[in-house]
Amino acid sequence: WSGVGRGHSSTGLKQNVKRVRLMPTKRLVSSTPSIHRHQREERNRPRSAAFYYNQKTIDDAAAKPSVRLTPATILYAGKNSDGAHLLRSSQYLQRELPVRIAHRIAGFRTLPFVIGCNPTILSVHELYIQAFHILNEFPEIQSLEDSRKYNGILRELLDAHKDVVTHLASGFRECRRYDEDLIGQFLDRTLTSRLGIRMLAMHQLSLHDEQPNHVGIINISMKVKDVLTKWCDFVSHLSQYKYGRSATFKLSGHINAAFPYIQLPLDYILPELLKNAARATIEYHGDVLPEDMPPITITIANNDVDFIIRISDRGGGIPHGNVNTVMHYNFSTATDEENMDDHHGGFSGMVEAANSAQTAGPMYGFGFGLPTSRAYAEYLGGGLHLQSMQGIGTDVYLRLRHVDGKFDSFRI
Ligand code: ADP
Ligand code: COI
Repeated sequence: WSGVGRGHSSTGLKQNVKRVRLMPTKRLVSSTPSIHRHQREERNRPRSAAFYYNQKTIDDAAAKPSVRLTPATILYAGKNSDGAHLLRSSQYLQRELPVRIAHRIAGFRTLPFVIGCNPTILSVHELYIQAFHILNEFPEIQSLEDSRKYNGILRELLDAHKDVVTHLASGFRECRRYDEDLIGQFLDRTLTSRLGIRMLAMHQLSLHDEQPNHVGIINISMKVKDVLTKWCDFVSHLSQYKYGRSATFKLSGHINAAFPYIQLPLDYILPELLKNAARATIEYHGDVLPEDMPPITITIANNDVDFIIRISDRGGGIPHGNVNTVMHYNFSTATDEENMDDHHGGFSGMVEAANSAQTAGPMYGFGFGLPTSRAYAEYLGGGLHLQSMQGIGTDVYLRLRHVDGKFDSFRI
């Protein structure tokens, strides 16, 4: 293996590694019509290490910087009656997506060998390689018809990649004993970049298929209370199913706040935080009547720079010994048996509400909820902070920068 690296000439490398076969990977791609052919051709092709490490088009794209946009640029990009804005947006994506995906592939290549060879992680790596080729080989977009075809590909890729976080959570769980800092940095980088890629792709699809009150994925007057209510209801149902009872939620503060925002990341973060608060409350107050359980209080604060959502539970708090580890990927107080129970059948999509608002998965499991939420919040120019009052409960502060606020917002 020592001869395998990105700096080697392609023929030399191929000869070196011809006989090196990596363990068979689990195929994660769900088949969809137009990427089906590509996958069929790929499926039975034996994989050598060179396949993963030696692809010139990917190296070239990975060497380019990505061009990140502010939500304001997207919001005020304008709309042309002849659809020129749709064409511009597709052309931007056609240049941008291969570069970003190549950066992700470069990230997988930097993982230590033992981690990179984990079959689940390797198959996600492979999924990105396939996505790169599919997008990179798409003919130059010159018309609205091309743009529509490109959208078809994007839709299929979004679907084929919908379980990437779940697969990474499962793959890294098997590698838990390896370098935690390195894995943390890789996951922060990979997951936030992926959020950006998905936001751009979904924005493009929504521009073609516009909803009232929206410019692409930006809701021009998102009401925080409505988003919270939706996820509180969701968590109540999930708690009923899992525990036979649920905690109550109380909203206070600026409950009428409404402003332009992208709901997609909230659809990932909020259910994760609310599930944690509900689980702690229900488990800590196991012996009281449901009506006597202390409610989870959610406070919204809005100002001209950012908005803050505080979720306060009385679920006993996070023990002193765990305060610093709850933010680590794959740290969970759920036992392995509980994990297995939860993951049978309905697991797919657990940490995947970012992609599908309908599935926020089981109550807990892989220990990805907090670290992923914090990484997303920081990517969005905000943060996630916890205050544990051991013996009482936990306050979680989610702070997010406005997209049209007084100060610069984030870049997607
Ligand atoms: P998971 O919910 O899958 O375990 P998370 O990353 O969301 O993963 O949380 C990690 C751990 O942090 C949980 O297993 C739990 O022990 C602890 N935790 C998170 N939120 C709370 C809370 N509100 N109260 C008490 N403990 C919490
Ligand atoms: C992902 O969801 O992992 C992506 O990168 C999506 C992209 C291939 C459209």
